[in-house]
Amino acid sequence: MRIKLRVWRQAGPGKRGRLVDYSTDDVSPDMSFLEMLDVVNEGLIVKGEDPIAFDSDCREGICGTCGFLIDGVPHGPVRGSTVCQLHMRSFRDGVTVVLEPWRAKAFPLVKDLIVDRSTFDRIIESGGYVGVGTGGAPDGNLIPGIDLGHGQFRRALTDRELENIIENGIPNTAMPPSPLLTEDAVQRLVAFLRSNAEQKPAPGKSGDPARGKALFEGKGECTDCHRIGTLGSRTGPDLTRIGLQRRAADIEKSLLDPKAEIQAGNRLVRLVTADGKEVKGRLLNHDTYTVQLLDWDEHLRSFNKADLREFAFEDSPMPSAKKKLSSQQITDLVAYLSSLRGP
Ligand code: HEC
Ligand code: FES
Repeated sequence: MRIKLRVWRQAGPGKRGRLVDYSTDDVSPDMSFLEMLDVVNEGLIVKGEDPIAFDSDCREGICGTCGFLIDGVPHGPVRGSTVCQLHMRSFRDGVTVVLEPWRAKAFPLVKDLIVDRSTFDRIIESGGYVGVGTGGAPDGNLIPGIDLGHGQFRRALTDRELENIIENGIPNTAMPPSPLLTEDAVQRLVAFLRSNAEQKPAPGKSGDPARGKALFEGKGECTDCHRIGTLGSRTGPDLTRIGLQRRAADIEKSLLDPKAEIQAGNRLVRLVTADGKEVKGRLLNHDTYTVQLLDWDEHLRSFNKADLREFAFEDSPMPSAKKKLSSQQITDLVAYLSSLRGP
């Protein structure tokens, strides 16, 4: 299809800007809007012209970075969609589309369609943000108080009771009925929930939570980094509810091979600021331009990536228990941690 664009071009802050016309025939209806701009930019680069500057990051509709105005509407004409998730099939062939930056005094223009949103980072840095549920299915194990991993359910003892909950939901709670599932599908779900809970300790071995607790607080040196209740350090994740959050098999894997799988909220980063200061901490969020972390002193910090000398992910500092502890001791620790279900 053929698309005509009128794009706000401005070389930098304080420079004179104007709308410039472009047109392209090379557009497939299945391209995203940003892919269409990539095509236009490739053409400009070949001609030796400056490509149109615009913001994007994930290109998966998650980050919201691609927020410029299309025909006066932030993120474009399709409701509930971002520019990167907008497809050219939403436009008529031959149409003219006007692209402008989000103009606001608090968001000064950087170049073309890019504005400086660090004001927003400063608000976040000083604690001014709210968490918003953005939909999608949450991980079942992370719903507070709900535990599908251990074969013990608060409201159901028998398979028949579980089936009933899946079919009919639980009135006055967020658990909806699933009227479209066949009987067979419901039975399979129940079988899955039951199998999920089967813990398979090595034959002849069973863990002793009391010995595990003694190890955790003593020889294991786990409290150097972890906290349970009011005991221990906050450098590593708080394990007060780990028995609810992870299954025994996953806990064991974390002990044997801490680097193998790290929960998104537990990733560590190290950065060096322009004046040479090193900051390490737990990564909260980052995008193309900024990074937010919780440093070792538990301060929320935000940085512009452009101002940093270095920015890198750190390996987990957690030592593998394999070398330090016997397999019986590890089984004891897993038994102890699995029993932790909150303060
Ligand atoms: C030097 C600091 C340090 C020590 C010592 C340490 N850990 Fe960790 N641990 C971490 C960090 C950081 C993470 C998060 C990154 C990762 O998963 O490796 C972690 C992750 C974990 C997890 C996974 C948590 C989750 O949310 O999935 C478990 C379980 C755990 N540690 C248990 C232990 C036990 C038990 C000990 C003692 C034998 C111990 N750790 C010793 C730093 C440490
Ligand atoms: S680039 Fe569009 S939402 Fe992330």
